[in-house]
Amino acid sequence: MTNEDQAMLECTSLTKTYYSTEPATQVLNGINLTVDTGEFLVVMGASGSGKSTLLYNISGMDRPTGGDVLLEGQEITSLKDTELSRVRLTRMGFVFQQPYFLSNLNVQDNILLPAFKAAPKDKSAATARVDTLLERFGIDHVKWHGITQVSGGQLQRASICRALAGQPGILFADEPTGALNSSMSSEVMDALTDVNTDGTTVVMVTHDPVCAARADRVVYLRDGLLVDSYEMGKWSDDKAAQREDDMFAWLSKKGF
Ligand SMILES: Nc1ncnc2c1ncn2[C@@H]1O[C@H](COP(=O)(O)OP(=O)(O)O)[C@@H](O)[C@H]1O
Ligand SMILES: [Mg+2]
Repeated sequence: MTNEDQAMLECTSLTKTYYSTEPATQVLNGINLTVDTGEFLVVMGASGSGKSTLLYNISGMDRPTGGDVLLEGQEITSLKDTELSRVRLTRMGFVFQQPYFLSNLNVQDNILLPAFKAAPKDKSAATARVDTLLERFGIDHVKWHGITQVSGGQLQRASICRALAGQPGILFADEPTGALNSSMSSEVMDALTDVNTDGTTVVMVTHDPVCAARADRVVYLRDGLLVDSYEMGKWSDDKAAQREDDMFAWLSKKGF
């Protein structure tokens, strides 16, 4: 197998049960999923179907009950907490529905904080990288602004910059447009599409068919299992309307 064929992420027989509830809540029932290097994968499913749980368990934010997760061939579920934190900090990026920025720091410093933590000896390189990212995602002009002085779409693009500052191979996003109106949502989806075009693997959870239409492939979660998938190939702006129509049609057949 050459390096290019190496899957970015692979999970096998992944299960997750929450024992904190009575009775226990069995959320993931044996998920097998391979995410190719460079792929843009979307996870869909009804609310409560376990999308966030799946994302947290394949990204080392939570520990699965059973099964394996390989990141570029390396098993990560059995790593010690400190090793797993290091993997998350240096090889993965995360974008959530809310950006969780510190209100006492400006936009740029919020983005730089984890990059400095990941590479304390290399602050000037991190600063240069962040400058490039701010420009790439069109928020260069607001980098000195406080976080309440920018729009929701700009803030979410800033959180994408933060996620990319450490040059991760894979970016995980959980409902990144869930709190945005449709024009801001499309700004953020443009940014995530660019992230993927630049070579970063993206795994995104969304309940929005318009956002899902950006993906190379959409997988559908039901009762803790992946029950269907839909391949669309790489996004292009001129096919947007057709892809969105196809996505709505595919989802409506599932009663989504
Ligand atoms: N920490 C937890 N403890 C107990 N149950 C949980 C926990 N987190 C999620 N669940 C349950 O797991 C199921 C799936 O949740 P989640 O993954 O958040 O779904 P989705 O993201 O698809 O809306 C839900 O029934 C939820 O109540
Ligand atoms: Mg969720």
